[in-house]
Amino acid sequence: MVPPTALADPTAATGGAPVGTPDAPAIKDPVKDTILTPRFYTTDFDAMAAMDLRPNEQELEAICEEFRKDYNRHHFVRNAEFDGAAEKLDPDTRRVFVEFLEQSCTSEFSGFLLYKELSRRIKQQNPLLAECFAHMARDEARHAGFLNKSMADFGLQLDLGFLTANKAYTFFKPKFIFYATYLSEKIGYWRYIAIYRHLEKHPESKIFPIFNFFENWCQDENRHGDFFDALMKAQPDTVRGLRARLWCRFFLLAVFATMYVRDVARKEFYEALGLDAREYDKYVIAKTNETSARVFPVVLNVEHPKFYTRLERIVSNNKALSSADDSAGPAPLKAVRKLPYWLANAAEMAKLFLMVPIRSERFQPAVR
Ligand SMILES: [Fe+2]
Ligand SMILES: [Fe+2]
Repeated sequence: MVPPTALADPTAATGGAPVGTPDAPAIKDPVKDTILTPRFYTTDFDAMAAMDLRPNEQELEAICEEFRKDYNRHHFVRNAEFDGAAEKLDPDTRRVFVEFLEQSCTSEFSGFLLYKELSRRIKQQNPLLAECFAHMARDEARHAGFLNKSMADFGLQLDLGFLTANKAYTFFKPKFIFYATYLSEKIGYWRYIAIYRHLEKHPESKIFPIFNFFENWCQDENRHGDFFDALMKAQPDTVRGLRARLWCRFFLLAVFATMYVRDVARKEFYEALGLDAREYDKYVIAKTNETSARVFPVVLNVEHPKFYTRLERIVSNNKALSSADDSAGPAPLKAVRKLPYWLANAAEMAKLFLMVPIRSERFQPAVR
């Protein structure tokens, strides 16, 4: 990855080329934080350090051995295909694609920061866990750096140093970190592989060469997800009992709903790739749900006809919320206009949460 400090002054290396060109990318202001933008996390490092891995040490050791092999060491190398590729995009596609790059770069970078900090803070007490986190930080740094280089092709760059210092960090207890990162790794895997396979069949929709890298890339995410799977099995209470079942439902729903609402609102990006955002998300959700049954005690009934009806209501409430935002009038008046939609969203989420889940044994009997 490009060290954050090197991103602070992009003209330094270019002898003062005009800012906003690939030679001297302009620093892009991070998008405003909303419930849908990627978050940065921190956790209880002492609890992580004290974690007893013995219940599943062999599997974790085997995963660490895989990480050491560093399969993608030589994968993220830009080739001639990138030359001039950015100029071929029409302005609308360009806008949605840059948004995609920014969002992806931010979430990859968020993973890097968390894993890096974990590996640093638990090194003495828990060397095996620390080593795994260090390898994953290496991968995420590569991913974020590679995305940021593509942003530079569009004359933009995320100031990752600024982001590190200024973004709000959400504190999660270790078990919540496990649920959230496990899901984001596995969903990342299915998102990347689904795009890759689609573009393999429809090369005419490959709007940028970065998609050629997704096949090996998503294997990194898959391995990261497997690591958290093994880690939860080393801490069996995280995936056993009533509380665990409730939390797993909550995290599955939060992750699926956030992705669905965000992707439908940004459907132009998927259209540019020849994909229907809703169909794509339904596929990714079904696959991630099925995969999660390997470790979570329950998963969601995403095939239930009401599941997407309710998500669609949240989509349309959010549309109303943003038009209230754009409407004229003082802030308190806008809040009054928005209140019914917030309440409606809360009610839909509560109903979704209360839908009867599926016991994982029914999904993944062979691996459980
Ligand atoms: Fe990644
Ligand atoms: Fe990852």
